[in-house]
Amino acid sequence: MLNFVQETDNQIEKIRQLITDAFGQTKEAALVETIRKSSNFIPELSLVAQENEDVLGHILFSSIVIETSQETFPVLALAPLSVTPLRQRQGIGSKLVEVGLIRCRELNHSIVIIVGEPRYYNRFGFQKASQFGLHSSLPIPDEVFMVLELKPSALMNVNGTVWYPTYFNEV
Ligand SMILES: CC(C)(COP(=O)(O)OP(=O)(O)OC[C@H]1O[C@@H](n2cnc3c(N)ncnc32)[C@H](O)[C@@H]1OP(=O)(O)O)[C@@H](O)C(=O)NCCC(=O)NCCS
Repeated sequence: MLNFVQETDNQIEKIRQLITDAFGQTKEAALVETIRKSSNFIPELSLVAQENEDVLGHILFSSIVIETSQETFPVLALAPLSVTPLRQRQGIGSKLVEVGLIRCRELNHSIVIIVGEPRYYNRFGFQKASQFGLHSSLPIPDEVFMVLELKPSALMNVNGTVWYPTYFNEV
């Protein structure tokens, strides 16, 4: 049976392998390990899709900020999302996003930022971030820089620069 739960320490090696397999390179797995060691890591928001002893998918939300003209506003970055190649297109990625967003709301977060394929993330309610007056500290194409409000009008008066920690530059 598939479960969607918080990662445990003894799954860390399996998660590294899963992410490497999903992306076909090690950068994203290294990013997760860097975030895990940083103060931006939120253990409750590093989730796995597990089936028996197997880790089939992983999603991570970590802390970043939006710098507005008035304040530094805490938000979440969704990155990365991975499903093991042999089990892709079976709904596991979607379920990880859905379960993850529920956990984000339960923990009282209000905004999630993502760099991702609009055709995939639109279905969860993500919209183009530039429409809300947001721009990224990284050179990211407008179409793939997206945002989701977890609370109604969360983005009202929150516009400015989304600051990605420098470790995101490596990906
Ligand atoms: C992207 C990914 C997480 C999706 O997970 P998944 O379990 O395969 O996806 P689901 O089964 O929930 O959803 C399948 C849908 O996603 C679409 N899809 C899958 N990968 C996609 C991609 N890279 N771009 C656009 N759409 C994609 C499929 O077309 C399908 O759409 P449909 O239902 O309209 O046919 C997974 O394919 C993966 O790990 N890919 C490699 C890593 C990656 O690119 N991660 C995302 C960037 S952070």
